[in-house]
Amino acid sequence: MQCFVLLACLMALCHAAVVKTGPVTLDPFMFEADYVNSIETTWKAGPNFAGYSRQDVKRLMGVLKPTPKEFQLPPKTHELGGAGIPDSFDCRDKWTGCPSLNEIRDQGACGSCWAFGAVEAMTDRLCIMLGLHYHISAENLATCCESCGDGCNGGYPGAAWEYFRKTGIVTGGQYNSSQGCQPYKIPACDHHVVGKLKPCKGDDPTPSCSKTCIPGYKTSYPDDLHYGRNSYSIPNNVTEIQAEIMTFGSVEAAFSVYADFPSYKSGVYKHETGELLGGHAVKILGWGVENGVDYWLVANSWNSDWGDKGFFKILRGKDECGIENAIAAGQPAIP
Ligand SMILES: *[C@@H]1O[C@H](CO)[C@@H](O)[C@H](O)[C@H]1NC(C)=O
Ligand SMILES: *[C@@H]1O[C@H](CO)[C@@H](O)[C@H](O)[C@H]1NC(C)=O
Repeated sequence: MQCFVLLACLMALCHAAVVKTGPVTLDPFMFEADYVNSIETTWKAGPNFAGYSRQDVKRLMGVLKPTPKEFQLPPKTHELGGAGIPDSFDCRDKWTGCPSLNEIRDQGACGSCWAFGAVEAMTDRLCIMLGLHYHISAENLATCCESCGDGCNGGYPGAAWEYFRKTGIVTGGQYNSSQGCQPYKIPACDHHVVGKLKPCKGDDPTPSCSKTCIPGYKTSYPDDLHYGRNSYSIPNNVTEIQAEIMTFGSVEAAFSVYADFPSYKSGVYKHETGELLGGHAVKILGWGVENGVDYWLVANSWNSDWGDKGFFKILRGKDECGIENAIAAGQPAIP
């Protein structure tokens, strides 16, 4: 099991991108969604991927081999112990001055979730730990980090944090945002429901790496680089993960996606049915208890029209789909 998870996101579901097959199509995960809604469980499904072909979704779920040794980050533990860990915690309530905690990004038709989970947590931590309000660029990390894997075809979260520490990453906001040195170049897309945006096409190439900032941006590329001070993993231990999040902010996580997950709408997700589609990386920003069920609060990068306004909850304390055994993080260096 560690297997899938270590590979983390890799090629993965990251790649939520899919080719639309006709003017009106059924939800390709309808079978799983109907099943989930027919049983007693802790969550509800809905037609998130209506209009897409299941074959195309599946085709894009690659599974990489386990994380290379050099990207298995050193484990970090905390002194805290179990004492002082509240029943529920949400980074958004503790660090109200950090708006990136409320954001949901969109990786578009690209398997770059490994980069998104990382830059989202880096961005939050830059604000939480240093009071800085920059978006760390998914574009820059996904396109320029060669050791991270293969851009839109998947990568290693551990390598992303190592790249932040060693090479640095420039700033950059979402697609169309004109924000920062390198905003995301791949269009946001309608993975889901009924389209206000264009649907994703499955096989967009990774944009090429550029060592310049967009025209009009006032800082030079080298001056815009932000660095990590360290990079580490958190052991597969709920208390340790909670201590890390409470102290330093959100973390990157990876988990195995099964065919019932794409239809998530609300409640606390746990795997009920469907085959493995691939690994996916996300950002954990809190935890809580809903109707007696412990959960992690997680931000996905499939636009805010997916799931519960872009977020989801997943069972906590059971290493559900491996969500607790591949936590990557680090701390920003003072510029
Ligand atoms: C998890 O971490 C806590 C806090 O460090 C520790 O007290 C506990 O023994 C650990 N649990 C396991 C199963 O290792
Ligand atoms: C990006 O901006 C252009 C021009 O404002 C707009 O036409 C387009 O719909 C936007 N695309 C997305 C995905 O938001």
